[in-house]
Amino acid sequence: MRHFINLKDIPLRDLRRILNDAKKRKKLRSKFNTLENDTKSPLKGKLLIQMFEKPSLRTRLSFYLAIKQLGGGTITLRSNELHLGKGGESLEDTAKILSTYGDGFILRTDSDQKIDNFRQFLSIPIINGLSPSSHPTQVLSDVFTIEEIKKKPISKLNISWIGDSNNVLNSLIAASVKFSFTLNIGCPKNYEPKKIILDWAKNKNKDIKIFNDPKKAASKADVIFSDKVISLNDKTNKKKKISDFKKFKINNELMSKAKKDCIFLHCLPRGTEVEDNIFKSNKSKVWLQALNRVHVQKSILLYCFNKLR
Ligand code: CP
Ligand code: NVA
Repeated sequence: MRHFINLKDIPLRDLRRILNDAKKRKKLRSKFNTLENDTKSPLKGKLLIQMFEKPSLRTRLSFYLAIKQLGGGTITLRSNELHLGKGGESLEDTAKILSTYGDGFILRTDSDQKIDNFRQFLSIPIINGLSPSSHPTQVLSDVFTIEEIKKKPISKLNISWIGDSNNVLNSLIAASVKFSFTLNIGCPKNYEPKKIILDWAKNKNKDIKIFNDPKKAASKADVIFSDKVISLNDKTNKKKKISDFKKFKINNELMSKAKKDCIFLHCLPRGTEVEDNIFKSNKSKVWLQALNRVHVQKSILLYCFNKLR
């Protein structure tokens, strides 16, 4: 059994095995209906328990489809309906019960500490379904989408992130170290990534460039990523933050600084950080990006269950 908590803790070899498996599985599914099982139903009889302490559309549904297509099933818990959420049961006992009834656990939470505590007490794999520090299932799937569209290893591409220094960017930084791709970040001065993550990358000899001018960050990009300026439960002064990011909106002018065949990606949901005409243009690959989460997460589940081919 293996956990899937943070890309920086997973060996590149395993990340590549997951991506290769996802590529093969995606190909084989072209004639399957949504809920038909993959051949051999490799996770037949397995129960994946999902718990979301924050809203989710894509992560919830894509993991639902992922486990179903592998032959298993899922149940989604609302944290506020558990004794744990009301302070009536310890995390340790909750983890023991989850491990008794289920085979895997996905948690979306506002606390990295909570994921770590669960990891300690669970005897089943835990998957980070988004935390303050990272969104690993999203970003691994995004690497898959980029390589699928560009038909070359991501290490040969220039990736630009224009936006807030949030959980998704942290995972992208981790991915840039693991997969050795060029990462340029464009954000206002006071919104740069935390020193701890930049120091981690630097220790791995990774040179990530940060620009306070979005046009410089977008220059010669093969891929431009963005995300909401205001993340879920972001406690900052929202009006001020949105105004600080005004210059960082993804529009035609910014896209024109990138390579001609540059694509636009966004994990969704979106806010005001991208102009509608870019979001709906043929450069935007956001729907394929969302769909691919099903394929990659199937291989993540197989990895966690030691069933990767
Ligand atoms: N991108 C993503 O994780 O979407 P949800 O918040 O809808 O799960
Ligand atoms: N950075 C966003 C991602 C949502 C999928 C958030 O944490 O709200």
